[in-house]
Amino acid sequence: CVDNIKVLIIPKIKDPRGNLAVIEKDIVPFKIKRVYYLFDIPSGSYRGGHAHKELSQFVIALSGSFEVVLKDREKTKRVILNSPTKGLLITPGIWRELENFSSGAVCLVVASDIYKEEDYIRDFKEFVDYNK
Ligand code: TYD
Repeated sequence: CVDNIKVLIIPKIKDPRGNLAVIEKDIVPFKIKRVYYLFDIPSGSYRGGHAHKELSQFVIALSGSFEVVLKDREKTKRVILNSPTKGLLITPGIWRELENFSSGAVCLVVASDIYKEEDYIRDFKEFVDYNK
C-alpha cells in the first residue's frame, strides 16, 4: 500500500567542483534492468496514470521538480521530488501520476525490468479490481 512507498536518500560525494551522486546496486532492492528519463516536458504535462503488476521503479528528479501522486485502493499520497539525491521507490501494484513539472525538469527512472506493455494496468477501475 502507499504507506510503504519510501523516499530514499542517494549517497552524494560532495566536491567544490560539483557534487556526484551514485545509484549503486545496494541502494535499490532490485536488479537494475533499464534506465529511462523524461525530459523536454511541457508545462502542465501529466504523465503516468497507470500501475505495474510486477515492475519496481526508483524515480529521481535529476533536475527541477515534480509531484508524484500514489494511489492504492484506499489511499492517496502525494510526494514532491525536488532533489537529485532523493529517490522514490515505487513497488508493484501502486497507481502513479506525475504532474506539476517545473521548467527544465528531468525525471530519471531506474527499473527492475525491460519495457513490457503487458505489465501495465492503464485503467483505474481495472487497477482497483486487480487488487481486490
Ligand atoms: P508510459 O510508460 O506510458 O509513460 P509515462 O508513464 O511516463 O507517462 O510510456 C509512454 C510510451 O512510451 C508508451 O507508448 C510506451 C513507450 N515506452 C517504451 O517503448 N519503452 C519504455 O521503456 C517506456 C517507459 C515507455
